Amino acid sequence: MSEHPNSTDSIAVWQHAINQAIHSIEWPAHPAPLYRPIQYTLEHGGKRLRPMLCLLGADVLGGSMADAMPAALAVELFHNFTLLHDDIMDNAPLRRGRPTVFSAHGANSAILSGDAMMIAAYAQLQAYEGVRLAQLFSVLNRTADEVCAGQQFDMDMEGRERVDTAEYMRMIRLKTAVLLGASLQMGAITAGASASAQKSLYDFGVLAGLAFQIQDDVLDVYGNPDSFGKKAGGDIDSGKNSYLRVRAMEEADAATREALLQWYAAPPGPLRIREVKKIFDHLGVHQLAIDHMNALLQEAQASLLATSGANKTSIDRLWDFSQTLVKRSI
Ligand code: IPE
Ligand code: IPE
Ligand code: MG
Ligand code: MG
Ligand code: MG
Repeated sequence: MSEHPNSTDSIAVWQHAINQAIHSIEWPAHPAPLYRPIQYTLEHGGKRLRPMLCLLGADVLGGSMADAMPAALAVELFHNFTLLHDDIMDNAPLRRGRPTVFSAHGANSAILSGDAMMIAAYAQLQAYEGVRLAQLFSVLNRTADEVCAGQQFDMDMEGRERVDTAEYMRMIRLKTAVLLGASLQMGAITAGASASAQKSLYDFGVLAGLAFQIQDDVLDVYGNPDSFGKKAGGDIDSGKNSYLRVRAMEEADAATREALLQWYAAPPGPLRIREVKKIFDHLGVHQLAIDHMNALLQEAQASLLATSGANKTSIDRLWDFSQTLVKRSI
């Protein structure tokens, strides 16, 4: 019997296979301060969405989980690397309910352990050869470049008084959505999919990824910190132009806009978070976020249904899974 589940197994079985594969990656024992933070990051939680999308992308196009697993590990390692660096940039104390590597060991540790994780991500691609290797490498490189650009835009927008929705959408497309699209595309590549099928899945993943980041912004304010695992109101504290802030500035009348800006200029802390949240509630921006996410998912579905050569049962499974990206509380 194969150690890898197959198409008829449940998502939970696939999730288990991903976790097992992650935990069986061997890291050198020395130097411990370099490799321990990597194990700390990978051992505890993480929804493993990107590797799951990679496996689902392969499955939709008739590939096997065994063939797709190294690519799935590559995207998860890459994602975790970005988190170590992101927590430095966002000055974040908590992730997955535990201190961030940055807050526990300092920026140098988070930088270097992150670098080693990124190298390990690329090393996973050594499992492939020929056209598949060339395509996987090209997609991961393009995506990595885009994520850097997205993170730069995110920082550039921090503290800026006005950012319009289009500008915000461009930023989250780059920092977050393209990696979800690439995860699906890389799965499709391992299955030897056509360029057009790869593109449909990629587009689907990017659209679902936009909704996913909007939900991340919503949970930052409205989530339960115990389950969400990050500092409540962290985006308000760091003056992020989150979806809620951007839409609030668009929806507000002049006086409310002034009040919002004044609160963002006040010292960070519980009072500022509470007052900004009150304004968000008053303007109903949470509902605007839900409406926008639903519209993005509709658009995503159209792209998914256009995937040529796709297996119908697997498409349904991928569609069901994509709902959980948005209707999540963690
Ligand atoms: C967090 O991603 C970073 C974002 C792009 C919002 P996830 O919410 O997928 O993080 P984990 O891996 O499940 O912790
Ligand atoms: C993260 O966006 C994007 C990347 C890590 C590239 P956020 O900064 O919103 O993610 P969280 O909320 O810290 O997980
Ligand atoms: Mg960030
Ligand atoms: Mg962050
Ligand atoms: Mg966030």
